Amino acid sequence: METVMNEAVDSAGLSEKHGSAAGVVSKPERPDWTIDQGWKNYTPEQHQVWKTLFERQTKLLPGRACDEFVQGMQNLPMGPDEIPDFNRLNEVLVRRTGWQVVAVPGLVPDEVFFEHLANRRFPAGNFIREPHQLDYLEEPDVFHDVFGHVPMLMNPSIADYIQAYGMGGLRARDLGVLDKLARVYWYTVEFGLVRQNGGLRIYGAGIASSYTESVFALSAASPNRIAFDLERVMRTHYRIDDFQESYFVIEDIDRLLDLAHVDFGPFYRRAEEGPEHLPGTVLSTDHVISRGTGDYHRGRIGGVVT
Ligand SMILES: [Fe+2]
Repeated sequence: METVMNEAVDSAGLSEKHGSAAGVVSKPERPDWTIDQGWKNYTPEQHQVWKTLFERQTKLLPGRACDEFVQGMQNLPMGPDEIPDFNRLNEVLVRRTGWQVVAVPGLVPDEVFFEHLANRRFPAGNFIREPHQLDYLEEPDVFHDVFGHVPMLMNPSIADYIQAYGMGGLRARDLGVLDKLARVYWYTVEFGLVRQNGGLRIYGAGIASSYTESVFALSAASPNRIAFDLERVMRTHYRIDDFQESYFVIEDIDRLLDLAHVDFGPFYRRAEEGPEHLPGTVLSTDHVISRGTGDYHRGRIGGVVT
């Protein structure tokens, strides 16, 4: 499974998962941490890794990814043969939703991440995983960031929602509730499901870019699938190193547009006052779409829950 740690976390005191925590990236020269993508520097082997990932994922996603993802992908200059050139992606993306992709060397600090999102710039790692890491990586690479996220950035609702997340990020940090906001991002932008075409579909990039979780999230008996509720999600911890134990389902992609305009302040306050929930907990107040068996995670030792 892919582990993507785009979020600041956690009530246990971990933080700064956007970047410096990884400890593998030194601060670039530019204050916004952007670098040139260096597209010409990709080797044939790196393009081949992209091709392998792209082809197996595009075989898997029809009938699993939501219509907005499929449509966004079709309208982008993104194919199997080479790692996309961000300049070419941006020619299309900017015209469509005003977003652009900017290259960064890896995870970046929270405030840098939020500043980019607030200005409709999506920071994408310019590196690609090694051939032996096809199903597991600790930092989001160009395949996760571009294949997983950019098609959804072609959608106006997601476009507004992620910008609002960026704008809300610094406020949440000042309020000391970044963990709550990060959970919302995690269970929507990264691991969200949407009800569509009489079933469930993937819109979260963490799922859409993962071969194994694309199947697990929709088809496995183990995880819970629960109707999205903002306060409930703010209270819910998540797994950063394994499949999710629960997925939260929105009724429609445009629900994210509504969320972009919601004042999270009262929700933070209520979430702060009430209990927090483990990733696999099902509550009597939940609208459960399918209750998981929990079999997959039962007996697995360790794991990182934030
Ligand atoms: Fe991501």
